Amino acid sequence: MVELINRCPEYVAGYKAYCREMYDSHITYFKPTDPEFIDDEWFFRTKPWYDRKEQGLIEGQPVSFHYWAIDNGQFIGEFQLRTEFPEKVMLDIGSIGYAVRVSEQGKGYGKEILRLGLEIAKQHGMEKVLLTINENNKASIRVCEALGGVWEDTIDACNDAEGQHLLRRYWITL
Ligand SMILES: CC(C)(COP(=O)(O)OP(=O)(O)OC[C@H]1O[C@@H](n2cnc3c(N)ncnc32)[C@H](O)[C@@H]1OP(=O)(O)O)[C@@H](O)C(=O)NCCC(=O)NCCS
Repeated sequence: MVELINRCPEYVAGYKAYCREMYDSHITYFKPTDPEFIDDEWFFRTKPWYDRKEQGLIEGQPVSFHYWAIDNGQFIGEFQLRTEFPEKVMLDIGSIGYAVRVSEQGKGYGKEILRLGLEIAKQHGMEKVLLTINENNKASIRVCEALGGVWEDTIDACNDAEGQHLLRRYWITL
């Protein structure tokens, strides 16, 4: 059974393997940490940054909470939640970032992670979340619509990883 947990040292090796798969597969829709940066000290070196991010203390970064998805002791993927709606959330990254390790995709994990993540969003007091999805990302569109996503519009967007692209915006009411 999948669960979303707080980041912890126990699963750093699994996180690194997941990042490696994402990089090797050239996934652009979601960029995890460069696996080259993940060494033995990485977790404690970066913890203060993640803690500050949760408090909205990182310049230019919306308030964000990071969770890891674990199934039966295996690292499966991640879930990120942005609880406020600044321009960067509205026009670029949305309220939610999520991904499943490449070798585990297509087994229903994406849907389960989003379902669990929406429960977490509710616990944070959110009434709705915005998902922003590249027009070409058919798997994520499918998952989002299965979880009740209501299409709002499609806008032009541009970022380093994806370049110019069309971005679908969906609301999910919690
Ligand atoms: C998006 C993502 C999280 C989905 O995870 P997953 O575990 O593969 O998702 P699921 O197995 O729960 O469901 C995938 C659904 O998409 C469908 N799908 C997958 N590829 C598809 C494609 N190319 N065209 C249409 N549908 C597709 C599957 O059939 C399935 O739908 P179904 O259950 O109705 O058959 C995963 O693909 C991923 O990590 N992608 C890279 C990161 C990313 O894009 N994150 C989201 C950014 S918005």
